[in-house]
Amino acid sequence: MIPDSFKQDLLNRVDIVDVVGKYVQLKKAGANYSGLCPFHDEKTPSFTVSPAKQFYHCFGCQKHGNAIGFLMDYGGMGYVDAVKELAATVGMQVPAWQPRTPEEAKRQERETDLAALMHQAMEFYRAQLKHAPRAIEYLKRRGLSGETAARFGVGYAPDDWQGLKAAFPDYDNAALVECGLVIEGEGKRYDRFRDRVMFPIFNRRDVVVGFGGRVLGEGEPKYLNSPETPLFQKGQEIYGLGHARDAMREAGRALVVEGYMDVLALAQHGLRYAVATLGTATTPVHVTRLLRELREPGAELVFCFDGDAAGRKAAWRALEVCLPLATDTNPIRFLLLPEGEDPDTLVRAHGRQDVERRIADAQTLSSYLLGELRAQADLANAEGRSRFLVAAKALVQRLNAPVLRMQVVRAIAPLAQVTPEDVERLFAPLEGAARARTAPPARTRAPLAASTAEQGLLRCVLADPSLARGLADELLDESAPETAALRSLAAEVAADNAPSPGMLLERFRGGAHELLVHRAQAAVLESQLDAESAAHEFTQLQIALRIRHKHREIEALKDRVGRDSALNAELNLRIKELHQLKGQRS
Ligand code: GTP
Ligand code: MN
Repeated sequence: MIPDSFKQDLLNRVDIVDVVGKYVQLKKAGANYSGLCPFHDEKTPSFTVSPAKQFYHCFGCQKHGNAIGFLMDYGGMGYVDAVKELAATVGMQVPAWQPRTPEEAKRQERETDLAALMHQAMEFYRAQLKHAPRAIEYLKRRGLSGETAARFGVGYAPDDWQGLKAAFPDYDNAALVECGLVIEGEGKRYDRFRDRVMFPIFNRRDVVVGFGGRVLGEGEPKYLNSPETPLFQKGQEIYGLGHARDAMREAGRALVVEGYMDVLALAQHGLRYAVATLGTATTPVHVTRLLRELREPGAELVFCFDGDAAGRKAAWRALEVCLPLATDTNPIRFLLLPEGEDPDTLVRAHGRQDVERRIADAQTLSSYLLGELRAQADLANAEGRSRFLVAAKALVQRLNAPVLRMQVVRAIAPLAQVTPEDVERLFAPLEGAARARTAPPARTRAPLAASTAEQGLLRCVLADPSLARGLADELLDESAPETAALRSLAAEVAADNAPSPGMLLERFRGGAHELLVHRAQAAVLESQLDAESAAHEFTQLQIALRIRHKHREIEALKDRVGRDSALNAELNLRIKELHQLKGQRS
């Protein structure tokens, strides 16, 4: 690990224009530099480098990053190598990582200890499998080859209350409980996993952070997973990612399935780009990380779910998570399998080609979205069409990808018997939302107007981080994807006087908010939102938040007023406050 202070220092010293300029011919264009994008084929430059903000962005393929990111993406370097290379150009020496605080040092040490125990446990389980004919028989019956089992580190936890004693002579070590291998109850200690086939779960650094354990045959629970530990957060890990990474790049596709066995069976049949979530619903962290892995424009993310009611529900939930994260260049698709089948049974019965044919026929995010909306309303009458539009609005507003959004708007218009302009007007950003109020941008492209107050606020804060100090935190919508990003930005800003935009990218690297921050920075760049207009927008958006809050209060009161007439006075007061707030807007 490299200390943050060093990275900040480094990013302050290097100039991204020099770094990129070594590989790309850049021409000055106003405050920025532009050139032909090195990440995709193009004839007119859409690649922009901002010396003021110290990041690059391609309006064509959406590649985005700071100087470190450029060396990683373009130079294909790993993170540490990129930092070292960059440091060398300005004569800086990368220090060994030093924990910032004693707590941090302790935590780091603890995590290393736990990881070592988990690794040791995996080795133990793997060795046990060799002496467990029942487990071998079970895996064979499920068609799993020894080679696949070995590749994924599959093992066996013996049918013994303290089987791990053989691997850990100091079985009383508290760390065994902390990493979820041993359970402590009523003064006794015993193994969590007994008589189960063990699937190790690796994190992005290929460290074993958890296990999934399956009963041999029937039994409850079918799968027992490691609990959440300092090493393991279920909603953040992706099973099989390390094994699938190369194949994903090669195939230009990632397939997300539900089960461990699905990943293994698919890999064994040559479909190696499948990964699984760990029995949790799809999270933004999953989507962000997978989209990041799919570097090439055109590479696609395909979700695969069972065709039953639960699967359809999970698919829709995944779609909702994807909306704000979808891009114009990387399609997201959804595959619903026939009821009673899963990728494991399908690939074993019909082979890889059958699965790939189904993938090729999978619905795109937009067709899935429109199909569901159409199914919910009767488009033959005006009431049905207006219901359709209202339902569509809530979803389309969350789409951040401008070109895709435009396509969806165009598809919606004829269905609702209105013009695309009508749809745009109806779906218009929140009243008073962020549009650069200064001179229109020099680019011919339309500025990316924010579609929610939270999205607008994020852009303002990126244009001028100091604004985050005045953020009306309590009024933010908990369901807006930008809310968490705004909060962590505000925390960053509170902790450090003025992080540069390039450094902010560093703080969010690899995290759940990374993509949102990229998008927002791109929007700031494109709309040329300067600090002054950002401050003005910021004030307006905070008023918009208050108005929204007041509306909600009024709606809640209206609900109750029918039952309690004393509330009428309060209702009138709130409505008066609302009008005052509206008067504050410019
Ligand atoms: P089999 O083919 O029957 O081995 O299972 P599968 O790989 O098809 O998994 P399934 O579709 O039944 O479940 C998908 C995922 O949900 C599994 O890989 C687990 O991560 C998780 N899961 C399934 N059953 C349980 C359970 O009983 N408890 C817990 N905690 N998780 C489960
Ligand atoms: Mn299965």
